[in-house]
Amino acid sequence: MKILHVVGARPNFMKAAAVMRAFSRRGLTQSLVHTGQHYDGNMSDIFFQQLDLPTPDVNLGVGSGTHVAQTAEIMLRLEAVLTERSPDLVIVYGDVNSTVAGALVASKLRIPVAHVEAGLRSYDRSMPEEVNRVLTDSIADLLFTPSSDANENLLREGIDPTAIHLVGNVMVDTLVSLLPRATRPAGIPDRYALVTMHRPSNVDDLPWLTQMLITLRDISRHLPVLFPVHPRTRQKMASIGWDDTGDRPLRLLDPMPYLGFLRLQRYATLVITDSGGIQEETTFLGVPCLTVRDNTERPVTVSLGTNIVIGRDMGVLKREVNKIVLGHVKEGTSVPLWDGHAAERIADVIAGKTAIAASA
Ligand code: UD1
Repeated sequence: MKILHVVGARPNFMKAAAVMRAFSRRGLTQSLVHTGQHYDGNMSDIFFQQLDLPTPDVNLGVGSGTHVAQTAEIMLRLEAVLTERSPDLVIVYGDVNSTVAGALVASKLRIPVAHVEAGLRSYDRSMPEEVNRVLTDSIADLLFTPSSDANENLLREGIDPTAIHLVGNVMVDTLVSLLPRATRPAGIPDRYALVTMHRPSNVDDLPWLTQMLITLRDISRHLPVLFPVHPRTRQKMASIGWDDTGDRPLRLLDPMPYLGFLRLQRYATLVITDSGGIQEETTFLGVPCLTVRDNTERPVTVSLGTNIVIGRDMGVLKREVNKIVLGHVKEGTSVPLWDGHAAERIADVIAGKTAIAASA
């Protein structure tokens, strides 16, 4: 059985790394296609090195564009690759444009598709990722879910229950394997807030972006704010002419490699973010997380973990930051199956199918 993984954007890489490693241990035949959705060295190459991902067999080199252009371009270029390689199974990850493009092409070519991180729903169709999730799950043949809420969502949508496998969180697998190397970085403040912000709903709305930045600058007067800035956010900050020359400015950093960011997360007093993956990682690490969104597709990080969804209200953000600084911290508990072994469970399912196919 020939398995082909499709990745494209930063959050795909840590997921595929865990799965590919588990498959290698089983001796499964696999290849890797990078769509090139993310292409900057510090958004892509450095992740491959740190996560020990193999060099992609093919890089489609699509780069940036409108969501339609990017998705369409991935589809066109991937069709040629899948036609030539004719894999028996295509695996896609998460909810980025490369995910839905990969799933659609495989499905059109009648190649079975597996979706890792299936079933998450924000029920907010204004998020590009939500559309990607719903479409991918509706055509996937195998759906690997990270938590039981995802199974419930899929069953509600009429997905065949025998196609759904609750395996846990593969991103946590990668975190667990690299945690021993996530030592405290030298030269960081004793206490600090770590910020990431890149969702279109936050950074493309320029008056709102300005308001958030002013609030973060206020916070940085009593708690240092470390802020690795995504390229999309960097462009938007330039377009509003953000200039922070106060005595306690935000500490703006370039996007960080996986391990460097994990080290900062682990020792942060709190994290402020709009990322999905970071809500999960902070829950696993037990670090307080304040999510600047109206909703989350990862509700277990709120019900069991350390996450608080604060909405689009900077007054609430300031209040929650103050509470944490004063020691009133939301305690989390561990999420079932977020134990470092999710990829092995996926490998069990796929190896089982391979064995059945071979004996048929
Ligand atoms: C994408 C995902 C998002 C994920 C995020 C992680 C979709 C719909 N969105 O958003 O779910 O959380 O990745 O980072 O797939 N750019 C660079 N260098 C790069 C990549 C992008 O400069 O290597 C700039 C380009 O100007 C580009 C912009 O960032 O237009 C946005 O990139 P894009 O891939 O469209 O989406 P992200 O915002 O990164």
